Amino acid sequence: MENKKFIEVKDLQKTYDNGHQAIKSVSFSVNKGDLVCLLGPSGCGKTTTLNMIAGLLAPTGGDILVEGKSMIHVEPKDRNIGYVFQNYALYPHMTVLQNVMFPLTVGKGKKSKNEAKKIAKRYMQLTHIEELADQKPGKLSGGQQQRVAIARALVQEPKILLMDEPLSNLDARLRLKIREEIRALVKEVGITTLFVTHDQEEALSIGDRIILFNEGTVQQNDTGDNLYLEPVNQFAANFIGNPVIDNFKVKVENDYVVGKGFKFAITDLKNERFKKTLQEGQTYTLSVRPENLLPLMTEVKIENDDHYLEADIEDIELIGRERVLKFTNDGNSERSLINLEHQVKRGDHLTFSFKLKRVYIFDDNGERVY
Ligand SMILES: Nc1ncnc2c1ncn2[C@@H]1O[C@H](COP(=O)(O)OP(=O)(O)O)[C@@H](O)[C@H]1O
Ligand SMILES: [Mg+2]
Repeated sequence: MENKKFIEVKDLQKTYDNGHQAIKSVSFSVNKGDLVCLLGPSGCGKTTTLNMIAGLLAPTGGDILVEGKSMIHVEPKDRNIGYVFQNYALYPHMTVLQNVMFPLTVGKGKKSKNEAKKIAKRYMQLTHIEELADQKPGKLSGGQQQRVAIARALVQEPKILLMDEPLSNLDARLRLKIREEIRALVKEVGITTLFVTHDQEEALSIGDRIILFNEGTVQQNDTGDNLYLEPVNQFAANFIGNPVIDNFKVKVENDYVVGKGFKFAITDLKNERFKKTLQEGQTYTLSVRPENLLPLMTEVKIENDDHYLEADIEDIELIGRERVLKFTNDGNSERSLINLEHQVKRGDHLTFSFKLKRVYIFDDNGERVY
């Protein structure tokens, strides 16, 4: 049992009745007690995947195992899974207490009224909604409704908690607060959790691991650090990070990587970081995060292998502690992220240094080469 994965999703597939292939082939596993984020753009198949794990939707291929046992033919109510739906789905005619107790008052594992109340109150305490016990959901704020939905999902003490974009209906500041609360809560309860979001920052901040989806496939299944620092392909590089990563068109010519206004020798790159070899005459995308492409006016530590690029600043955006400088290179818009204390004006002509040890190179299929 020790080294067995708690949840194992194997070659999972879903083609809807209209012929749409929402999940092409998805495989991943989740360790017991982990909070794993399913991250990806709208329509990539996150909800479809959760619904198959919960048993609300039948897969058209593959398998889902929990503690080594296939769930495919197990009824949803026997899967022991708590589900917080995107729209909360609270019962409007019941009070908060009745909503939270509800799962304990129906079905096989039905509890006595007193017992159900006691358990419900414990989870209402954990989610900070005790004082709302007698209110109807219609009177509650989004954040309060969210907490009721979480408490209701937890009362049966499920093995697995599924949460589908639980924060998407909340305003920005509340989102930050509740995501911290959710992480603390699921860690305290010790429940294995799959948390769906389309927000990369949310995923980076709460996930023990992140499974990045696109078009019904897994792009990268990794820690947040690795997704940010070592994206396996162009999609992952572009999806993670704010401001978004900078992409430059380059071509390999006479053993140099040549972009518009800059070039460097292939021998300047580190051998051990190559995944594939660069092909003479081929075009590639050179990518670097905006914090690794800094104007020389900042106290950038110049390193031997840094390379330079000149540009006119077209726009400047203030994002709190930092400024985003925007410019164009070869028709692509690029960004540099500098400290607030540095003053830059629109129209300034700056020299940027990019850190070769922090660049990525992707081929025209989006596969990582370097
Ligand atoms: N019942 C359905 N019939 C046909 N296509 C569907 C159905 N439900 C979802 N889809 C499609 O499947 C894809 C994945 O949907 P979904 O899992 O809801 O994505 P996500 O949750 O990542 O936004 C989307 O293209 C969506 O339009
Ligand atoms: Mg969805």
